[in-house]
Amino acid sequence: MKALILSGGKGTRLRPITHTAAKQLIPVANKPILFYAIEAMKDAGITDIGIVVGETHAEVRAAVGNGEKWGVNITYIPQEAPLGLAHAVKISEEFMNGEPFVMYLGDNLIRDGVTSLKECFEKSGANAQILLAHVPNPQNFGVAELNEGRVVRLVEKPIDPPSDLALVGVYMFDSSVFEAVNSIQPSVRSELEITDAIQYLIENGFRVESKIVDGWWKDTGKVEDMLEANRLVLDGMAPENFGEVDSESEIHGRVSIGKGSKIIGSNIRGPVIIGENCVIENSFIGPYSSINDRVIIRASEVEHSIILEDSKVLDIGSRMADSLVGKNVKICKTLKKPQAYRIMVGDNSEVSVF
Ligand code: G1P
Repeated sequence: MKALILSGGKGTRLRPITHTAAKQLIPVANKPILFYAIEAMKDAGITDIGIVVGETHAEVRAAVGNGEKWGVNITYIPQEAPLGLAHAVKISEEFMNGEPFVMYLGDNLIRDGVTSLKECFEKSGANAQILLAHVPNPQNFGVAELNEGRVVRLVEKPIDPPSDLALVGVYMFDSSVFEAVNSIQPSVRSELEITDAIQYLIENGFRVESKIVDGWWKDTGKVEDMLEANRLVLDGMAPENFGEVDSESEIHGRVSIGKGSKIIGSNIRGPVIIGENCVIENSFIGPYSSINDRVIIRASEVEHSIILEDSKVLDIGSRMADSLVGKNVKICKTLKKPQAYRIMVGDNSEVSVF
């Protein structure tokens, strides 16, 4: 069995972070989301992995390489434009070479990985297997309609959803999917939809099985989803300390501290992950925070936030929460007169003050 991980897409809902970074490379608990997908494949014994890349191909290649750090073989499959998930399948036909495969959306996170799903698909002899999850907002997803446990209809982002069962971004197919993706027409948003391809399989006598997801699943399209994914991953994290914690500091709960990091006169309340070579001084880091490498936090409070590499939060005095801070950002208090907010932020940014 092979794997196809989709890592194209523009990540418009995560701007401005995605102006300069691929959304699949934004870290959750200090690890790029895409790496969780690769690890899930490796854990399931799948080592032949195709990654469909778009505009951010150079960055994805630089981060992932040829896969040797995971012991897998990565083949990059360039998609000339974001023409849909079924289009990504279409351009991967040669790579699949007749083998069945797992298709995994690179911005999805699924707690239990794909091992048991793969076994189930292999045993079933079905042509396709989809994964479903009950969600409160089905209109934002592909939605399945079931009849006595069998999928009878799939609709992409319906205004009036037939159920609350969303399509999770993990699909299994045999080579019959290529007949489907080559037969369907683009949708109203001009994309070849994978939901339409699966609907084609259902209507043309192929066997499509469905499973309801065990454990949690998260599509990380928006900031709130990133923060939630971060919470879910940190909840399952094992604590470890490779840094230095001085005698004035207090560490509570599940806290992971990377090599070369220093915690000075601070209170860290887990679950929290702190990367390598960070300095946390006279500060409070509250639950569900991921602090990436070389971040400096001084005389400030940070909670339920993701802070990327090389950023600084200095002397802000009050607490920063529910935030996603990009790389090399500086947030600080100044005594300069007149007392005012002085801000330089990129396009599509959001700053909330009180
Ligand atoms: C895509 C699919 C949708 C699926 C979702 C899962 O939507 O088109 O059917 O439910 O992924 O993450 P997108 O998030 O690309 O809009």
